[in-house]
Amino acid sequence: MVSRRQSIHGEWSSRWAFILAATGSAVGLGNIWKFPYMTGENGGGAFVLVYLLCVAVIGIPIMMAETMLGRRGRQSPINTMQTLAIEAGHTPRWHFVGWIGVLAGFLILSYYSVIAGWALAYVLRTGTGVFTGATADGVEAIFSDFVSNPESLLGWHTLFMAMTMIVVARGVQGGLEKAVKFLMPGLFIILVVLVGYAMNAGEFAQAMRYLFSPSFENLSPEAILAAMGQAFFSLSLGMGAIMVYGSYLPHDASIAGTSVRIAIADTLVAVLAGMAIFPLVFAHNLEPGAGPGLIFQTLPLVFGHMPGGVVFGTLFFVLLVFAAWTSSISLIEPAVAYLVENRGVRRSNAAVIVAGACWALGLLTVLSFNVWSDVHPLGMFETFKDKTPFDLLDYLTSNIMLPLGGFMIAIFSVWIMSRDASRDELDLHEGWEYPAWRFLVRYVTPVAVVTIFLNAIDAI
Ligand code: PFF
Repeated sequence: MVSRRQSIHGEWSSRWAFILAATGSAVGLGNIWKFPYMTGENGGGAFVLVYLLCVAVIGIPIMMAETMLGRRGRQSPINTMQTLAIEAGHTPRWHFVGWIGVLAGFLILSYYSVIAGWALAYVLRTGTGVFTGATADGVEAIFSDFVSNPESLLGWHTLFMAMTMIVVARGVQGGLEKAVKFLMPGLFIILVVLVGYAMNAGEFAQAMRYLFSPSFENLSPEAILAAMGQAFFSLSLGMGAIMVYGSYLPHDASIAGTSVRIAIADTLVAVLAGMAIFPLVFAHNLEPGAGPGLIFQTLPLVFGHMPGGVVFGTLFFVLLVFAAWTSSISLIEPAVAYLVENRGVRRSNAAVIVAGACWALGLLTVLSFNVWSDVHPLGMFETFKDKTPFDLLDYLTSNIMLPLGGFMIAIFSVWIMSRDASRDELDLHEGWEYPAWRFLVRYVTPVAVVTIFLNAIDAI
């Protein structure tokens, strides 16, 4: 047995608290907002299949690796990587993996908060009955009116960022644990009801075919990259969010079991969201590839027509805000933990600094939907020709930084760290699990990430 480190930030009160917090991080806008519109933009079933494959063979092993590194290092990802590299007799420069993660989290939160602000705004709209009896065109018009107004987007973004800052300032147990306990089950139930509604009111069979019968002819290298990126994004992997949560995990908790549970819950929520939305898309002749506005242009239609839709719809958007909240907290936790450890900044001040900077960067996204909707900074490349600053931030983080971070984490866990150390921390001493994990992380993950990268580069 090796000596155990302690985290200066505290520990989860139990393994259950970690599961809740990590699920809170994983389940968010990525599942309910992003998964459906990415599926629509990338042609349906084949994208979903690649996504599911990525979750199973890359996502779960990397989640185990991240949690394992976090619990072994017991510090912010930057310091964890450095400490573990030194322990394994390698260069402390491995801390750069933590830095990429901090930067990715920072960039993601800048736009995540803007979209979460949309959900906040929709709580109010749904709650005041704006959508009652609305038509598909009406709902679309309300959405485009809403995003065309930068001041209002900025206001909601500011509110959401302030909410994130407050919880992070309160620390691991005070803030994070409490928020998740009731919200995740609530969200799940609401989604199941929505799927039930879509079964009756929408083109359910067509949607199921769209989602689950893959047609590989429209699966481009770009779509494969997007599916992998979505798997990383949705599971909160590749940037240290799960690592930092793992650093607060008590020693007696099984990492493999928790990772599998979290991945299943996360995937189920995404698939349910798809099953709720696409029947409506087809029933109302909406465009599956409508982009980031998709759920805001479809779900209000349901809430406008179902009995009790005002109450139910409001509850849905409230829960979506909570799901986004518990994810956004994990997006800045690596940066905050670093400032507390290395710069001696008080947790509350660190939260203000990081959230403030993210808020400012969020202006790029706010403007991307209105004033700058025709600004395409990388327009000279075919792949990026229609991409606004928001699209580019999303592409850079989900499709490049997170898979790259995951790749480095994989390499580190099996090529740098000793077999004894990882086996001890994962606590998989007998059976097939450890060899299977090691094989996946050693060969499958790196090869898959590199191949998918190379193919996509080729297509640019
Ligand atoms: N997994 C979150 C979602 O699906 O909404 C987003 C996210 C959180 C991505 C934390 C990355 C991260 F580190």
